[in-house]
Amino acid sequence: KRIVVLISGTGSNLQAIHHACQAEGWPARIVAVLSNKPDADGLDWARAQGIEAVGLDHRVHADRAAFDAALSAEIDRQQPDLVVLAGFMRILTPAFVARYEGRMINIHPSLLPAFSGLHTHQRAINAGCRVAGATVHFVTAELDHGPIVAQAVVPVLDSDDAPTLARRVLAQEHRLYPMAVRWFVFDELALDGLRVRHTGAAA
Ligand code: GRF
Repeated sequence: KRIVVLISGTGSNLQAIHHACQAEGWPARIVAVLSNKPDADGLDWARAQGIEAVGLDHRVHADRAAFDAALSAEIDRQQPDLVVLAGFMRILTPAFVARYEGRMINIHPSLLPAFSGLHTHQRAINAGCRVAGATVHFVTAELDHGPIVAQAVVPVLDSDDAPTLARRVLAQEHRLYPMAVRWFVFDELALDGLRVRHTGAAA
């Protein structure tokens, strides 16, 4: 299986997935890493692993549709079975999303449907939540609202601020995302309508 990963920054989720692919000898590999920020750290990291890495500066494109067209041309060149958004901080046009629906997933740092959008950890703390976490979901036209593949839960401590909670959630993301990708790689997921069914052996 051919995986393309889209990032905007560090790419710590990218690294977790890459290591899982290699360590567990999956029949899958990351064939390219693309970013909307040409200076994203994750691009340099990918190149150091020998993975093709392309930066597409969204600022040089006339509008969102033009950027999305350039991005999908790059993606299609790789013929991916799965497109993984990992810390990708761009809202994608409905046409772009429709093109990859059913084979594009994202990770969001909250227990969706709670706290879609930004500043999720501070909002969870402000709301007095006792748990928080991360969600892997299929990407649909509605931001952060696609069919949920997997979730990880962490406690919110009285002593937490956004950074301490973010760190605890991110550590779980690095466990959760490789597991979700593994289910996809081994065809252990079935998507019927808005429900994701795990059809394979437990991970
Ligand atoms: C993570 O919190 C992830 O949930 C969000 O982007 C953040 C950074 O991800 N989508 P990464 O370290 O760039 O993988």
